[in-house]
Amino acid sequence: MSEETAQLSYAGKSYELPVIKGSEEEIGVDISKLRGQSGLITLDVGFKNTGSTTSDVTFLDGEKGILRYRGYSIEDLCEHSSFSEVAYLLINGELPTSEEFDKFQDDISHHTLVHENIRKIFDGFPADAHPMGVLSSLVTSLTAFHPESLDPNRDPKMVDLTIHRLIAKLPTLASWVFKKKLGHPLNYPENKLGYVENFMKMMFGLPTEEYKIDPVLVEAFDKLLILHADHEQNCSAATVRVVGSSQASLYVAIAAGINALWGPLHGGANQAVIEMLEDIHANGGDVDQYIAKAKDPNDPFRLMGFGHRVYKNFDPRAKIIKKHADAVLDKLGIEDPLLEIAKGLEEKALQDEYFQKRKLYPNVDFYSGIIYKAMGFPTEMFTVLFALGRLPGWIAQWKESRNLNQPISRPRQIYTGSPARPYPTK
Ligand code: SDX
Repeated sequence: MSEETAQLSYAGKSYELPVIKGSEEEIGVDISKLRGQSGLITLDVGFKNTGSTTSDVTFLDGEKGILRYRGYSIEDLCEHSSFSEVAYLLINGELPTSEEFDKFQDDISHHTLVHENIRKIFDGFPADAHPMGVLSSLVTSLTAFHPESLDPNRDPKMVDLTIHRLIAKLPTLASWVFKKKLGHPLNYPENKLGYVENFMKMMFGLPTEEYKIDPVLVEAFDKLLILHADHEQNCSAATVRVVGSSQASLYVAIAAGINALWGPLHGGANQAVIEMLEDIHANGGDVDQYIAKAKDPNDPFRLMGFGHRVYKNFDPRAKIIKKHADAVLDKLGIEDPLLEIAKGLEEKALQDEYFQKRKLYPNVDFYSGIIYKAMGFPTEMFTVLFALGRLPGWIAQWKESRNLNQPISRPRQIYTGSPARPYPTK
């Protein structure tokens, strides 16, 4: 806490509010005692200016386009690390020693199986159910098969076990959703494979032939998972923290995060971007028409994959993903017209005053779907892939909130409804 204070004056009185300075020089006014001192609350619909917590997990600078997990830049982590190591870093706060990393991977690889009775729940879903709804339901069902998770305060070893089970089982559950859609037999995990290899094999392996692991796809997917791993207090991470603050099980906090991520304004945007690009392609590829729609205040159409609550400059993840999109499609020998349309949209939008004035740049979702599509994932699975990447970040955010013993989240409001009135007597 810094010694500085902020002054607030109202109705002839003035109030002194403590100022908190973060390790990256961010400044916040601590209003936790404002109502007690003044009777005033603050109002900030959508929390555009309101911090919900301090956090050591992730730092981002929206103006400079900086993103770091526990102090390490995403550029460095993409270059030198792996998704499994980044998961350990986010959850535990430090990079693992080789012994710690071996144990972490070993712990996870022994929980990849899912209780066979969860398959019975899974079998009840129609094949065309959206994967995100199935995934969040199956994650919630883990509370029934692992009731020891219901008390997150019970025992740190139990919390670690729940964390390992979540990281281990999500790929298995995610692959089942995909296989059911195709009408293919479900695959089981193979513990001798790495985390990403195991997922790819469960997704694309068939009992009729040997599945050949493609190192190009594994490397590209591993980097995409790293880039999605955390993003400070985004909508779904904030949801995980809010649900976790009631001391519900970690499984249901994560299921809530999956549901929040599903929305097209959040993680669901990666699916919406491809649907938009396919629409533009089907209508002759006229990007100008869609730019005009995006700018038209009377048209609800938005340029999906563009804009961001905090990035008012290029989303650093979008830069890396765009570079990889070219490389992956090249290596796979795929010519995707949607990539050219996306580049055309980006070029036009960045030169357009509407987007410049509102500082709307491509975000993480703008190019990611093009790589997922090239890797063989169907569009409806894209947000599931986002959830797979974001899982360690959600867990890290939840764990930090529980370790800080933060109170239940319960915002205030300003009532604007009807004054007191008697029930009409007949
Ligand atoms: C993610 O928070 C995170 O960190 C999220 C995320 C993560 O890693 O967790 O980064 C992942 O969710 C990325 C964002 C994915 N969503 C999309 O791509 C959907 C399209 N983008 C928008 O809907 C929008 O930009 C948001 C939701 C991302 C941000 O919305 P804000 O901050 O609430 O901004 P706003 O809606 O108030 O927009 C400000 C202005 C408005 O115009 P005016 O009313 O001022 O005239 O910009 C316009 C908006 O109409 N605008 C857009 C636009 N995004 C904003 N206009 C056209 N196309 C767009 N994409």
